[in-house]
Amino acid sequence: RPRVLSGIQPTADSFHLGNYLGAVRQWVTMQETHDAFYCVVDLHAITVPTEPDALRRRSRVAAAQLFAAGLDPERSTVFVQSHVREHTELAWVLICLTGMGEAGRMTQFKDKSAKFGESAASVGLFTYPILQAADILLYQANLVPVGADQKQHLELTRDLGQRFNHRFGDTFTLPDPYILKEVEKITDLQDPTAKMSKSSSSPAGILDVLEQPGPLRKKVMRAVTDTGSEVLFDEANKPGISNLLRIQSALTGTPIPELVARYEGQGYGTFKKDVAEAVEQTFAPIRERTEKLLADEKELDRMLAIGAERASAVAKETMAQVRDRVGFLPKL
Ligand code: TYM
Repeated sequence: RPRVLSGIQPTADSFHLGNYLGAVRQWVTMQETHDAFYCVVDLHAITVPTEPDALRRRSRVAAAQLFAAGLDPERSTVFVQSHVREHTELAWVLICLTGMGEAGRMTQFKDKSAKFGESAASVGLFTYPILQAADILLYQANLVPVGADQKQHLELTRDLGQRFNHRFGDTFTLPDPYILKEVEKITDLQDPTAKMSKSSSSPAGILDVLEQPGPLRKKVMRAVTDTGSEVLFDEANKPGISNLLRIQSALTGTPIPELVARYEGQGYGTFKKDVAEAVEQTFAPIRERTEKLLADEKELDRMLAIGAERASAVAKETMAQVRDRVGFLPKL
């Protein structure tokens, strides 16, 4: 079975629709066909200032949501990154193979550090993509299901894997990104040219999986739409409606042209009501299951301990090879 690995940051109190459609939904499907590893990346979360209590809460919420969305602990290895020490260890080795200029070209760092001012941003934020490369290479992953914003990080991952293999001998599998065109970039409801984002969208622009039906409906109804009144897919002139069409198509499995035909002559209102309905129906069962899982923290922590153990077994094996190839002395 080919192996799949992906990760999600516990940086908010809920995943949003972009995380769900762009990534998590594919994770659930792929557990049927792949040897699946999914990681709550808490080490990545601390690259920006983070309250310890918030981090603990969000890590559990993230894990609970993954199970609630359909990840089966029997079939998927779901774990917390900081539980497997090899992530940081491999990251260090890869950091030493990365050029300053190469790391400096990462656009996510440029965007995120611009928010703090470059000199206030942490060195951890700068090395973030290299830790991500370690996450992936450690498990010898073949495929990495992500949204479009992770493309550049995956290119770096391949470059670093290849560089290591070239310098020290074949060690790492080079992974391919798995990005579904139709859902690779779900956009902000209030700013439909920007991606829906935990860190930069306004609350009105984001649909959180754990949000109550009332506010969800309101946000969809108030989503920025475009001039005119026809429901048409036109990325350049109607980015708002096009985003809603993409969402509705993904949630209901109806091709976009069919939706366009269905709403012909009906205006935006009817269409938006149906989108709100589809969002609610998708999120409600996930929200309910998440609440149940969070009510028993001990059991959730136990599920994560099992995941960490399975992940560690793979990580240890890769790291033993890496240590040897790099020239670190064996510890007797
Ligand atoms: P994160 O936590 O920002 O997002 C988790 C996943 O959701 C996708 N995504 C989106 N997809 C479509 N439209 C959107 N608006 C949208 N917003 C987010 C992201 O592309 C991602 O797949 N660096 C990663 C976390 C990570 C990782 C890894 C991923 C750490 N190590 C190893 C894969 C493999 C991140 O910040 O994801």
